[in-house]
Amino acid sequence: MDKKVTVVGAGHVGETTAQRLAEKELCDVVLIDVIEGMPQGKALDLAEAAPIEKHDSRITGTNDYELSAESDIIIITAGIARKPGMSRDDLISTNTGIVKSVVQAACKLSPDSIIIVVSNPLDAMCHVAFDTSGFPKQRVIGMAGVLDSARFRAFIAMELNVSVENTHAFVLGGHGDTMVPLPRYSTVAGIPITELLPKDRIDALVKRTANGGAEIVSLLKTGSAYYAPASAAVEMAEAILKDKKKILPCATYLEGEYGINDLFIGVPVKLGAQGAEEVIQINLTAEEQAALQKSADAVQELKEILSKLSG
Ligand code: NAI
Ligand code: 2OP
Repeated sequence: MDKKVTVVGAGHVGETTAQRLAEKELCDVVLIDVIEGMPQGKALDLAEAAPIEKHDSRITGTNDYELSAESDIIIITAGIARKPGMSRDDLISTNTGIVKSVVQAACKLSPDSIIIVVSNPLDAMCHVAFDTSGFPKQRVIGMAGVLDSARFRAFIAMELNVSVENTHAFVLGGHGDTMVPLPRYSTVAGIPITELLPKDRIDALVKRTANGGAEIVSLLKTGSAYYAPASAAVEMAEAILKDKKKILPCATYLEGEYGINDLFIGVPVKLGAQGAEEVIQINLTAEEQAALQKSADAVQELKEILSKLSG
């Protein structure tokens, strides 16, 4: 393949991301983890599935970064995940150290790459990757909105008994309890769900979406979601690798857009070969804008914890 994507962290999200990238034949994949033998074993297993899955993506597992050199995209899934009773924010101290070390090692060898951050707490880890890499803002992007919107779409499709392909949804804000699902911009075959469902049902779907990660954690008990998160990261990578100019909700660094400054938060972004090529500004009602601001305040609090950790 003429494109290379490095996935750091070969745990649940990382291995599934590697599998989807390879099976879609989007790129060669380098899978990195600190556990000796583990990424090598998973990569070999995936390579042995290739003749049956009918793709020629090369998948390599390794514990060091040498083979990741000149990657087009670095997807960071390294870090600890939530267990029942933990919030995403409980992960901040451990994952800050991990994300810093991953970015230092990976970016030295792939200075022109685009970073997609997955590790939690997502918006805070975007700040860590941005500050550590020194990359321009277009080349550091966080995955959360695509996942949260996919959850909202799945719940809308279940509620209305329609194809998921008919659904479209936007969830903005930080990847936490304050995320902002936007029913007015969420549609089925182009029809806003506000015209298809009563308010109490929409409120229930919005609540389930905001609680989507915790719902899976409480069922799995030993970790968090990974199939949908991997799909979401791969949709973003595909948009970049194919220069699709696809508008997706992603965590991006805002400098005044939506009235928010110096903060990573989820908004609609145009993804293409240059990364986050444009922030799309949509009209929000006063209530929606207030919800986005509340979410930004929650991310700001995480940023302050980061400053204390580094101070
Ligand atoms: P996991 O525990 O299955 O995998 C994490 C992997 O990272 C482990 O294999 C571990 O050995 C590896 N790792 C730890 N330190 C490392 C380092 N310095 N270098 C390379 N690898 C290292 O966890 P899972 O389920 O894959 O989740 C990964 C992260 O992604 C978690 O922080 C989780 O909260 C986050 N996540 C974020 C989502 C989002 O929407 N942004 C959705 C799902 C998960
Ligand atoms: C999720 O939303 C844990 O952030 C992860 O599933």
